Amino acid sequence: AARIPVITIDGPTASGKGTIAHRVAQALGWAVLDSGALYRLTALAVQQQGVDEDDENAVAQAAQRLDVAFQGEQVLLSGIDVAGLIRQESVGNLASKIAAYAPLRQALLERQRAFRLAPGLVADGRDMGTVVFPDAPLKIFLVADVRARAERRCKQLKEKGFSANLTRLLEDMRERDERDRTRANAPLLAAADAKTVDSSALSIDETVNVVLDFWSSLGFPAAQ
Ligand code: CDP
Ligand code: CDP
Repeated sequence: AARIPVITIDGPTASGKGTIAHRVAQALGWAVLDSGALYRLTALAVQQQGVDEDDENAVAQAAQRLDVAFQGEQVLLSGIDVAGLIRQESVGNLASKIAAYAPLRQALLERQRAFRLAPGLVADGRDMGTVVFPDAPLKIFLVADVRARAERRCKQLKEKGFSANLTRLLEDMRERDERDRTRANAPLLAAADAKTVDSSALSIDETVNVVLDFWSSLGFPAAQ
């Protein structure tokens, strides 16, 4: 039987993965998996519960215990909306650190695959096309210059009421990208069959259309 289709969108931080994933999912009437949120939620739980962030097994156990629900814009951790909290750079940086742990990645694997429900799923992250959904019929590797990404993130954080400093963001981003790219477990890497899209000079609408055009060109029947 044909498997439920998945479009994967992987790429470095602030390349627009989440925004594009939501817009593409909306256009197709599909669900979204923000896999980074699971790493961020684990990081937040580790901070809140005082788990030793250097203990790989303790961190994986914290992930197994997560009580998470995604409801529209809300991200509920044990029933409390933490959508804003998990976007903070301190949480993102800890997420990137613990994301290198093999036991944590293993603990989150099945949780992520459970999002694959009819009529389809758009999944964004770092290893959606390489590890979690290797059979996805469309894989996008979304990139943009680090400066464009830092400027976007700066603007986004300020709009959400957080303070942000461009120079500091640039430094953090370079460091996080480097760590995500060079780790042994599921490094940030384009799948061999991924289409690379550079959004540095593209608007959100243009980027969404590039992805939807790729999808249409595959000739899958439209969902009823
Ligand atoms: O939004 P942004 O791209 O900054 O980050 P995110 O997608 O929310 O992910 C936060 C961190 O989780 C990343 O720096 C990655 O290290 C890690 N991550 C991962 O390892 N694998 C994924 N599939 C998603 C996120
Ligand atoms: O999920 P990821 O960290 O890759 O990025 P995001 O949070 O979806 O996007 C970062 C910011 O870039 C958001 O404020 C978007 O509105 C903005 N942006 C974009 O995503 N794509 C463009 N072509 C231009 C701006």
